[in-house]
Amino acid sequence: MQIVGTGVDIVEISRIKQAAKKWSARFLKRIFTPNELAYANGKPLPYQHLAARFAAKEAVLKAIGDSTIHRIEWVHVEILNDEHGKPVVNLSGQAKKIKQEKNISDIIISMSHTRTYAVANAIMIKNGKS
Ligand SMILES: CC(C)(COP(=O)(O)OP(=O)(O)OC[C@H]1O[C@@H](n2cnc3c(N)ncnc32)[C@H](O)[C@@H]1OP(=O)(O)O)[C@@H](O)C(=O)NCCC(=O)NCCS
Repeated sequence: MQIVGTGVDIVEISRIKQAAKKWSARFLKRIFTPNELAYANGKPLPYQHLAARFAAKEAVLKAIGDSTIHRIEWVHVEILNDEHGKPVVNLSGQAKKIKQEKNISDIIISMSHTRTYAVANAIMIKNGKS
């Protein structure tokens, strides 16, 4: 097992809120999956969770870190939570394909948010020696 990439991102929650207010459902649907929107909307402060997911998506792209990321759509990097609340990455479309091409076995993320900022990091893991 080998760590082959890492990425981090910090997001101002107010910027996500402003973009959502300005572009409305169009912005939200372009960036977030129905599962992500449902999760955030079920919380008292949805934008904290949306901003954290935005940061996590960026962190995953940074962990990949080459021009292949331009093939990826935001909704193809979905952030879900396991039964303990721990965030997990669910890739689809080109993001899933790139993961397979690069022989990535796992992408591990962690997120945190306050009233002002959300932060996330991603670690990309490969099985085997090369
Ligand atoms: C899970 C926990 C660490 C989250 O920390 P927090 O300071 O409340 O919240 P933060 O804003 O920093 O982070 C929230 C994010 O943590 C992540 N998270 C939640 N549960 C998690 C878990 N079991 N493992 C990893 N990450 C988790 C989620 O991504 C969450 O954001 P989301 O709801 O938008 O997905 C905390 O609630 C907790 O349960 N701590 C355990 C306390 C404890 O047992 N202490 C005694 C031993 S030290």
